Amino acid sequence: MAVASVPGKIILLGEHGVLYGQPCLSVAIDLRVGVEMQEGSAATVNGRPLDSRRHTYIKHAIDKYWQGEPLEVVTYSKIPSASGLGSSAAITTASVACLLTLQQSFSPEEVAQRAFAVEYEVQRGGSPNDTSACTQGSAIVLAREKRDHFIWKISRKDRTWYVHSIPAPEMDIVVGVTGVKSKTPQLVKKVRRFVNYSGFARELTQDIGGWVEEGIAALAHSDFVSLGEAMTESQKILHTLGASSPELEKLIQASLRAGAYGAKLTGAGGGGSMIALTDEPEKVAIAIEKAGGKALVTSISREGTKVWV
Ligand code: PMV
Repeated sequence: MAVASVPGKIILLGEHGVLYGQPCLSVAIDLRVGVEMQEGSAATVNGRPLDSRRHTYIKHAIDKYWQGEPLEVVTYSKIPSASGLGSSAAITTASVACLLTLQQSFSPEEVAQRAFAVEYEVQRGGSPNDTSACTQGSAIVLAREKRDHFIWKISRKDRTWYVHSIPAPEMDIVVGVTGVKSKTPQLVKKVRRFVNYSGFARELTQDIGGWVEEGIAALAHSDFVSLGEAMTESQKILHTLGASSPELEKLIQASLRAGAYGAKLTGAGGGGSMIALTDEPEKVAIAIEKAGGKALVTSISREGTKVWV
C-alpha cells in the first residue's frame, strides 16, 4: 500500500507568459489532497470502477506507470476542482508518487517528471509549473535558464524549463473562488490565438515576464508592497490578453478596496480563482465573500509531496 499527500498551488506571477518562454513564480499552499493505492481484485476509485472520463488523470497515470494487479484507489481533496489551484496537478502528482512508491523508486525529481508527462498528455500541452510546485512545495521559479537554487529541468519538444526552489517569507494569501469553472486548455488556446496573430499580445507576454522578475526580487526582500504591485499590474495584462472574467474582476477590485497589497487571477483564468496578498486576511476575506466569492485564507506549504508505505 502507498499513501501520498500533496499540496495545491497558486501562481503568484507568470501564468500564460510561462508558455512563451517567460519565467513563472508559484507557491504551494496548505490545501492538500491525499491518494491511497493498494493492490486488490478490481480497479476502483473511491469504490467506483476506474473510469477514463471521471478519473482521467488517475487512469492515465496507472495505464502509463503500472503493470501489476488492479489498484484500489481512495482520494481525499481539500482543493476545489477546476479553480486554478492545481487540483488536477495535485491528484496527478499524488497518483504518480503512490505508483512509484509501490515500485520502490520514489524520488521528487522522478515524481515531477512523470506527473508532468501525465498532465501534458491529458491536457495536450501546458508547462511543468503546477506539478513541480506540488512536488517540491514552498516557492518555485520556472525559467528558461539555470539560476541559483536550481533543482531540476524538464523538457518537452523544443522547450526546456529550469525549475528552482527559492526561499520565501511567511505571507498571508487570500484565495477568492468565483465558483465559475476554469477550463485550462480552452483558456490556453484562446490566449495562444491572440499571441499568434498579434505582435502586441506577444509583447504583453514579455511584460508579464518583467513583472515576474520584479516579484522575485520583491519576495527575496519580503517587500510585499512591490510584490503586490507586480500582481496588480500583471492582472491588467492578463485582462487585456482575455484571461480574466467579470467574476474575477469583481473579487479583485473588492480585495484592493479592502486594502490588499495586490490582487490578480491565478491559474489559467476565465473563472476559477483570484488571489490577494495582504496582512489583514480576515478583512480581505470578508470583502471577497461580500462580492460573491468563496474566500479561503491560506499560507505557503513548506512541505511538498509526502509518501507513506
Ligand atoms: O489553470 P492552472 O492552475 O492549471 O494554471 C494554468 C497556467 C498556464 O500558464 C495558463 C498554463 C500552464 O500550463 O502553465
